[in-house]
Amino acid sequence: MPAAGRLGSGAALWLLLAARTVAAIDPISVSVALGAASVLTGLVTYTDLYCRFAECCPKKQRLNETALKLELEEKLFGQHLATEVILKALTGFTNNNNPRKPLTLSLHGWAGTGKNFVSQIVAENLHAKGLKSNFVHLFVSTLHFPHEQQTKLYQDQLQQWIRGNVSACASSVFIFDEMDKLHPGVIDAIKPFLDYYEQIDGVSYRKAIFIFLSNAGGDLITETALEFWRTGRKREDIQLKDMEHVLSVGVFNNKHSGLWRSRLIDRNLIDYFIPFLPLEYTHVKMCVRAEMRARGSAVDEDIVTRVADEMTFFPKDEKIYSDRGCKTVQSRLDFQ
Ligand SMILES: *[C@@H]1O[C@H](CO)[C@@H](O)[C@H](O)[C@H]1NC(C)=O
Ligand SMILES: *[C@@H]1O[C@H](CO)[C@@H](O)[C@H](O)[C@H]1NC(C)=O
Repeated sequence: MPAAGRLGSGAALWLLLAARTVAAIDPISVSVALGAASVLTGLVTYTDLYCRFAECCPKKQRLNETALKLELEEKLFGQHLATEVILKALTGFTNNNNPRKPLTLSLHGWAGTGKNFVSQIVAENLHAKGLKSNFVHLFVSTLHFPHEQQTKLYQDQLQQWIRGNVSACASSVFIFDEMDKLHPGVIDAIKPFLDYYEQIDGVSYRKAIFIFLSNAGGDLITETALEFWRTGRKREDIQLKDMEHVLSVGVFNNKHSGLWRSRLIDRNLIDYFIPFLPLEYTHVKMCVRAEMRARGSAVDEDIVTRVADEMTFFPKDEKIYSDRGCKTVQSRLDFQ
């Protein structure tokens, strides 16, 4: 690419020379030629042109904070904590030219509460192609790391992949789905990369982002949400401090969290534990409406109610929270 970049400026130089030879004759063609030269050198370098068609690793992580905020507010329902923390964490991290460690987020909550959805939105806001980007990597425990007896192999593979991908693009994003199904110890292989090192073997990991998704801790989150509900306090008054500590301790002590006794936790290498609250009936309705709009159809409130009524709710007595969040909304809508 650099060689081709020089080709661009070489052409510009040629134009400048040509301009000089005609200078004596015609001042207008001089300015035309100079204009053309500045276009070649200034605006359309080969690299620009190349990156317009192929995907390039951004030199500086650019995040449109307004766009991310809008998208989260419009598409993620009932998650005031996640919205707030993710915005804050990502804006702070991408605005910092010299982060001291990579950003590490751990997202917790029951299925259907929006964890995957949020990681997809985050990926798209960092790399336009989102999950299809060459710089976004999704690992699914049951798919990529299924066998407990191969833990050592997985650890080596993970280290190799992360080293290779971060060498190619510093602002790579790694998403680990189904952390709760990851065999204990596998994730500790990436501890060195998450730590406060300036470089490891010549590679800096400080601009990378790691996102863990997990059902673990869902019970603790529900307990807190229920306690607020039962004591008549508003859901929106739940604060991160009501949950973050409980969550990190709970996950550390949970053998099926992927982070059981993990050094990532006891070395404080996870920057944020982000709780996803269980969704209520009104949130399910919001999901149905959003899905209808996404399909380009008018919102029909009868159908919205019918789909929401088909979902099952817990706990047994109060029936406040949807068992599967918004997870089955799409397929239920197909059958209306
Ligand atoms: C950021 O996003 C907002 C909302 O989508 C948009 O109006 C604005 O032009 C964007 N800014 C930049 C610099 O791309
Ligand atoms: C990047 O990660 C992917 C897995 O997402 C892996 O297949 C690939 O080999 C890695 N690239 C390098 C250069 O290590």
